[in-house]
Amino acid sequence: MSVVPSAGNGKITVPGILERKSGVSSQNSSPAKITCLTAYDYPTARLLDEAGVDVLLVGDSLGMVVLGYESTLPVTMEEMLQCTRAARRGTRHALLVADMPYGSYHDDPATAVRNAVRFVKEAGAEAVKIEGGERRMELISRIVEAEIPVMGHIGLTPQSVNAFGGFRVQGKTEEAGEQLMRDALAVEAAGAFSIVLESIPRELAARITAKLKIPTIGIGAGPDCDGQVLVIHDLVGLSFGHKPKFARRYADVGEIISRAAADYCRDVQQGSFPSDEESYHARTEKAGALFAQRK
Ligand code: KIV
Repeated sequence: MSVVPSAGNGKITVPGILERKSGVSSQNSSPAKITCLTAYDYPTARLLDEAGVDVLLVGDSLGMVVLGYESTLPVTMEEMLQCTRAARRGTRHALLVADMPYGSYHDDPATAVRNAVRFVKEAGAEAVKIEGGERRMELISRIVEAEIPVMGHIGLTPQSVNAFGGFRVQGKTEEAGEQLMRDALAVEAAGAFSIVLESIPRELAARITAKLKIPTIGIGAGPDCDGQVLVIHDLVGLSFGHKPKFARRYADVGEIISRAAADYCRDVQQGSFPSDEESYHARTEKAGALFAQRK
């Protein structure tokens, strides 16, 4: 496993992320918004890190966009650890956060802390993300006490898909909005260093952002959060099925891959791939002739 690069040289750290809270900058200008994208493998992590993304999240969304599951519920600790290790090898500057999968923190707190420790010790994560608000308070503080920074996550928490009855926007009524505000405050009070707000009304996200001292990172939560996160497969056009309205597509890599694969099949079938220049050759003419004879 590669070692977490140390602070300095532009390395993004947990204290650095806390300083990016709007209105907390030491200068007069407001700090730059936090950029976060998911990454589940070495090349993607490397490209996003080199592009200057602040936070790389090994999200359990990998279950849906990489492994083809219907939801994030089946994702295992082993799958998450494997992908976190790969992303670690490609990450130098960004803060690497690993998602705790469903079932890894829902039993006794001691097991949850042990699982969080595995992400740091065995996979090189610098923080973990946990879904849930008030009811996760005690757990978040236990993990923070174990020296592991925690990113909270409230709103449309995909691990609650069965309880919600589907992937639905949360916090639309006044009562639901007040509960989410209490959840956000509880996550902050428990010691989390940031919180993801997923699929909630823009107005509510703005209120939560104004109220909290830790940065909010929105996904489908409008532009007023302290940062934004997207699933990389949505951003580059590599995901299938329903496209949420917040998932702006910056490229169509799916189309590029399909076209490249079709062109390759055509060239192989027409005999134009590989060409002579793409072939190895024997050292001497004599050896070449000998091989040709043996054919
Ligand atoms: O799993 C994931 O990718 C996430 C982000 C969408 C926040 O939780």
